[in-house]
Amino acid sequence: MVIRSAEFIISNTDYLKCPPGNLPEYAFIGRSNVGKSSLINMLTNNSKLAKTSSTPGKTLLINHFLINKEWYLVDLPGYGFAKRSQKEQEKIQGIITSYILNRMQMTNLFVLIDIRHEPQKIDLEFIEWLGENEIPFSIIFTKADKLGVTRAKSNVLHYMDILKEQWEELPPYFITSSETKRGRDEVLDYIEQINKEL
Ligand code: GTP
Ligand code: MG
Repeated sequence: MVIRSAEFIISNTDYLKCPPGNLPEYAFIGRSNVGKSSLINMLTNNSKLAKTSSTPGKTLLINHFLINKEWYLVDLPGYGFAKRSQKEQEKIQGIITSYILNRMQMTNLFVLIDIRHEPQKIDLEFIEWLGENEIPFSIIFTKADKLGVTRAKSNVLHYMDILKEQWEELPPYFITSSETKRGRDEVLDYIEQINKEL
């Protein structure tokens, strides 16, 4: 898919105030600092579109970006940032869960996982919660440039093995790097395919 335009539309804490209409949207979720905003910039070839930071907890709102005037990419706040206060944590959690459970336009949720780490409880529980709520999702492994090819591959296979303990059918997955743009075509083609089937 060719990205002809990518424009920021609106930031929100409330899914009810997200853009009206029924254009399909694709949202990015995962732990703080996993690379959600960077991935949106990589996919759109615009390093300044979504705000990124080396400090976790940068994105605090639901951010809509209109792509090719036909569909949205949605940047969400990260979960599991230990340094937030309990109150702040609950607020962010509320924003994320109400968006995911109620936003009818959300066609697919990409769950981002840092390729370097052992499967983390917080992600596995989140994925299980998606299953319980029948939310369509796929997995994106991020920061692949930080590992060698062999290690990256074995980490991914290990992750999928762990998921097999929970799931009869595994979700689609992608290996990406916002530094090298690895996985860009695959993710965009996947979105294009879903858009065509709608
Ligand atoms: P929050 O908004 O805080 O939840 O974080 P986020 O998931 O949006 O992460 P963000 O895109 O802001 O990236 C966090 C840090 O990781 C930044 O320093 C990025 O430069 C770095 N980063 C993101 N993706 C990659 C990648 O593919 N490779 C490398 N090497 N660094 C990355
Ligand atoms: Mg972010």
